[in-house]
Amino acid sequence: MESDAEGESGKPVKQRKNGLYPGVSDELAESMKSGWADTELRDLAPIAQAAETAARRAALSERFPGERLVVPAGNLKTRSNDTEYPFRASVEYAYLTGNQTEDGVLVLEPRVSGGHTATIYLLPRSDRENGEFWLSGQGELWVGRRHSLGEAERLYGVPASDVRRLPDALREATGPVRVVRGYDAGIEAALTDKVTAERDEELRVFLSEQRLVKDDFEIGELQKAVDSTVRGFEDVVRVLDKAEATSERYIEGTFFLRARVEGNDVGYGSICASGAHACTLHWVRNDGPVRSGDLLLLDAGVETHTYYTADVTRTLPVNGRFSAIQRKIYDAVYDAQEAGIAAVRPGAKYRDFHDASQRVLAERLVEWGLVEGPVERVLELGLQRRWTLHGTGHMLGMDVHDCAAARTESYVDGVLEPGMCLTVEPGLYFQADDLTVPEEYRGIGVRIEDDVLVTGEGNRNLSAALPREGAAVEAWMAGLLRG
Ligand code: GLY
Ligand code: MN
Ligand code: MN
Repeated sequence: MESDAEGESGKPVKQRKNGLYPGVSDELAESMKSGWADTELRDLAPIAQAAETAARRAALSERFPGERLVVPAGNLKTRSNDTEYPFRASVEYAYLTGNQTEDGVLVLEPRVSGGHTATIYLLPRSDRENGEFWLSGQGELWVGRRHSLGEAERLYGVPASDVRRLPDALREATGPVRVVRGYDAGIEAALTDKVTAERDEELRVFLSEQRLVKDDFEIGELQKAVDSTVRGFEDVVRVLDKAEATSERYIEGTFFLRARVEGNDVGYGSICASGAHACTLHWVRNDGPVRSGDLLLLDAGVETHTYYTADVTRTLPVNGRFSAIQRKIYDAVYDAQEAGIAAVRPGAKYRDFHDASQRVLAERLVEWGLVEGPVERVLELGLQRRWTLHGTGHMLGMDVHDCAAARTESYVDGVLEPGMCLTVEPGLYFQADDLTVPEEYRGIGVRIEDDVLVTGEGNRNLSAALPREGAAVEAWMAGLLRG
């Protein structure tokens, strides 16, 4: 199906100005204008996070007094020809509004009396009078009903206005302005003479750091994401026989079904890495075989409808039982993860959990004779990194690698606070062609990853429902494989 109405010749009809459409009779055009019911939703309740989005906008307003702030959702991106990628609004826009509509823009307009007035700019309902509704590829008949501006006001708790008038309004506006870059070229073009890269970056950094500490709504959403993810992992274990008969794709598809049914999507490309693929950190091709006797490293997360994602990894024996060497490596990673999780508490340095995990892994590598000690020398020179490869975690939220624009002093060199949510995910990876380790290690990769919330007292493992300890993993798998 093409995205424009078909004329009598069978060719698609492109929308024209002035109501003239080749292949559309005047009678048909006239008929399509009327006879449609009033479907305005007049008693819509505000979205569940309306109070939180208002508080977030208030904090933003306070940080940039007297300045106009422009936060676009972004536009559809062409996949090929007339098909588009699924749309995902910018996290900045979704965080501040709760809305996720393409082409939307939040503007905070400074008030003379202080503070800002927020307006959300959106495409209104399709016009039936000029034929846009059924003749444009973005007409509601093709892409589905949009909320009217009145409905949007009721849902999001801010005045809504027609986004098509926004570029001209921004061009004409005076006074200091900042825009979140990288999402909407049209909006940026309208502001090109008024903004600087440096000032816009300050806005981006503030919005990233604002998300470091999650509010109660966000914590609830992260738990939902994790709970769905746990069910997705259970789904995968139940179909391991089918994955063996096909490929890693069966695992990807199985997890994706759970993500789409219970959530919005997966929060990132699922890593379904069987055998030596586990040693490729971002293995998302997922086209390899799944074999009994191998380990399956599954790193996957459901993203909720509000965009919060889990990020969980389990390394599972495909046949339900670890071999001795697999278990030895697994237990080292488990112990490293335990040490890492124990280091997550308010007031601790962000780097502490990484250091705690790395120390355990370095100790084991020395103990196994894979690297020459003492452990302090190994850690000082970073020699363990040949096999540990990556950092031990990261902030988690609306992005899997959340708050990426935060300054080093507020994140990596910062201190943990209640409400921060991070992954703890040590790993050991012995590449199939690593001649520095005995052959039995080669091709084994293990990562265990959990999502951990910093609480007032210490931490809460949001993904604790998914077994981690080696024997517990085997028992859990046995129950699911039997069922
Ligand atoms: N799934 C990507 C990561 O664990 O960071
Ligand atoms: Mn992660
Ligand atoms: Mn992960």
